[in-house]
Amino acid sequence: MKAMVMAASVGAVVLVTSAVGQAGDPAKLIGTKKCAMCHKKDETGNQYGKWQAMSHSKAFELLGTEEAKAVAAKLGIDNPQTSGQCLKCHSTAYYFTDARQSEAVAIEDGVSCESCHGPGADYKAKAIMEKREDAIANGLVYPAKEKSCTLCHNDTSPTWNPERYTTTSGGKTGFDVAQAYEKVKHERP
Ligand code: HEC
Ligand code: HEC
Ligand code: HEC
Ligand code: HEC
Repeated sequence: MKAMVMAASVGAVVLVTSAVGQAGDPAKLIGTKKCAMCHKKDETGNQYGKWQAMSHSKAFELLGTEEAKAVAAKLGIDNPQTSGQCLKCHSTAYYFTDARQSEAVAIEDGVSCESCHGPGADYKAKAIMEKREDAIANGLVYPAKEKSCTLCHNDTSPTWNPERYTTTSGGKTGFDVAQAYEKVKHERP
């Protein structure tokens, strides 16, 4: 009996860590405009406006630069803005895979809300959103800091720089969640 339970839970772990499963069902992506309906008021933090001002919203645009084309050329990729090998991390519409997963999300939106917070179809209703535990039960990834960032900020990125961040103890690291979070946070006032 115990062995069976063990086997079942090992199976579940494999499922959640598979490429698509780790962050929810891409068929349930709804796009930033839907989140913006409720998250653009200054009184509650205007998360939509803050996202528009951060680099994540420009992750697709970035792939159009000469710098990106040079990175892609080394990998034999002609146009990074049409390559799944780049868009898997630079656009929520590709959702961590090398093929487009959602028509509800504009490719141009780059890395948007649902890459970090999970697909919103089931948690977007006001009554669910207002209760954190209900939202989580319906797919909200919270807290997102620990679970989401390293899906993309990892050494499979072609521009990964293991010395990008200096830690408080003076060491070097490619990603430091606390420092990185300070640059993209969009909290309520
Ligand atoms: C119908 C309105 C509505 C929509 C649509 C909506 N939200 Fe919310 N959301 C809320 C409300 C209300 C809260 C409660 C706290 C607040 O006012 O910020 C909330 C809270 C949150 C929180 C914080 C959770 C917590 O417990 O502190 C996150 C993260 C969030 N929403 C993300 C999203 C994302 C991402 C989308 C789009 C996929 C979205 N929301 C769509 C109304 C909405
Ligand atoms: C595993 C996820 C991942 C993949 C795949 C990926 N990128 Fe990125 N890319 C990132 C992240 C994350 C950053 C932000 C810098 C950082 O923190 O590592 C970034 C930043 C960049 C930058 C800015 C330079 C820099 O070092 O900040 C360029 C240019 C770039 N990517 C091009 C590409 C191209 C071209 C492809 C496809 C060949 C690609 N990326 C594929 C995750 C990825
Ligand atoms: C790069 C990842 C990322 C993106 C993109 C992102 N968020 Fe967040 N968001 C976070 C993190 C991390 C937090 C802090 C709480 C946590 O750890 O989940 C947060 C917090 C929030 C909160 C709660 C604020 C508070 O005071 O507690 C809301 C609401 C929210 N995000 C909505 C959005 C909306 C709407 C979008 C898109 C317009 C968005 N987020 C885009 C990562 C992200
Ligand atoms: C879906 C992939 C993805 C996820 C998830 C993601 N990022 Fe990023 N991030 C990127 C890409 C791509 C860039 C480069 C975008 C640009 O420069 O236009 C980037 C850029 C950044 C930058 C600016 C460059 C740098 O490294 O200083 C910060 C800071 C950052 N991300 C923090 C975070 C944090 C914190 C989280 C988790 C809460 C997170 N990111 C989650 C893909 C992602």
